[in-house]
Amino acid sequence: MKKRKTKNIYKDNSMKTLVFATGNQGKMREIREILGDSIPEILSMKEAGIEADIVEDGKTFEDNALIKARAVSKAGNIMAMADDSGLVVDCMDGAPGIYSARFMGEDTSYDIKNNYIIEQAMKVPFEERTARFVCAIACVMPDGREWVVRGTVEGVINDRQAGENGFGYDPIFLLPDRGVTTAELPPEEKNEISHRGRALRAMRELLIKEGIL
Ligand code: IMP
Repeated sequence: MKKRKTKNIYKDNSMKTLVFATGNQGKMREIREILGDSIPEILSMKEAGIEADIVEDGKTFEDNALIKARAVSKAGNIMAMADDSGLVVDCMDGAPGIYSARFMGEDTSYDIKNNYIIEQAMKVPFEERTARFVCAIACVMPDGREWVVRGTVEGVINDRQAGENGFGYDPIFLLPDRGVTTAELPPEEKNEISHRGRALRAMRELLIKEGIL
């Protein structure tokens, strides 16, 4: 396994390795970019050889992130992190929310999901089309200590799909200050303002404050 360079001196050897509960390489890249300086080895579950049957049955983003991180930490007796994210649309009572991936069925295309959300948003005045991407990140230690933080990015449901970058609900998520959707932003710019980036940076600060990093 390739070791990453670190600027920090570890207070406890058990914290040299972190397992992030995802199989998504895009997420792993973003996590290594933000936490790689502080944690020398960040592995996906697959890379760590950890298998865990996880039922995400929480009622909030925080619950679900904690459920995943606890399961991975327990399975590997290791420091683990997990995230849970989604789109919250105010005029749809917060839907799709924690059900963002499953909304209208896992196999339904995002083209269809996005057009449905636009239809709902067009029924209300522009000021009421507010929405946000939310990401909760949980960190669980083998000794049972745990932390959870939230990052958000505020936006408005656009009147049409626009942009080719990103994934999921990005083509309908308008950043009012910039006048573009998150699917129209170059990936580096989206990472800078993204809910996941914000949550990861908040977790990094918290772990430094707690004396973990
Ligand atoms: P997960 O936390 O990676 O499982 O994300 C849940 C779902 O939320 C994704 O499948 C997308 O539908 C949606 N989602 C989360 N983050 C984003 C984003 O940055 N852009 C677009 N959709 C997102």
